[in-house]
Amino acid sequence: MRNDELFAAAVKAAGNSYSKYSGFSVGAALLTADGRLFIGCNIENASYSLTNCAERTAIFKAVSEGCTDFAAIAVAGSSTEDFSKPCFPCGACLQVMSEFCGNDMRIILSDGEYKLSDFLPKRFDEESMK
Ligand code: THU
Repeated sequence: MRNDELFAAAVKAAGNSYSKYSGFSVGAALLTADGRLFIGCNIENASYSLTNCAERTAIFKAVSEGCTDFAAIAVAGSSTEDFSKPCFPCGACLQVMSEFCGNDMRIILSDGEYKLSDFLPKRFDEESMK
């Protein structure tokens, strides 16, 4: 799947965003190594801290379906219909990506393609505890 197609899937996923408190809609489209697509959106709560980001929604959906091998994730976020400004993944989502996704996984934003290591060059992982 091409980057622009994956990004378009993320924009479409943002259409399901449950974000009545922030008014900021986020969608994520996660491509597995074997070509499956999992989408996710941000899901807010009146108890604000329970909010789940779009990226983690998509990743948790995939892991719960037995997929843990990922090729790319696209993320799109906006408070309007215009998704041209890049929506960078938050620190919590980067940490969850680091659990399941290698440094080479592609992160597709509106302004281009990144690697996980661009955002998280050093990270806490299972090696950190040995
Ligand atoms: N949000 C995401 O879904 N992903 C991110 O990586 C950054 C933030 C959501 C959480 C909240 O619903 C809204 O954006 C505003 O913070």
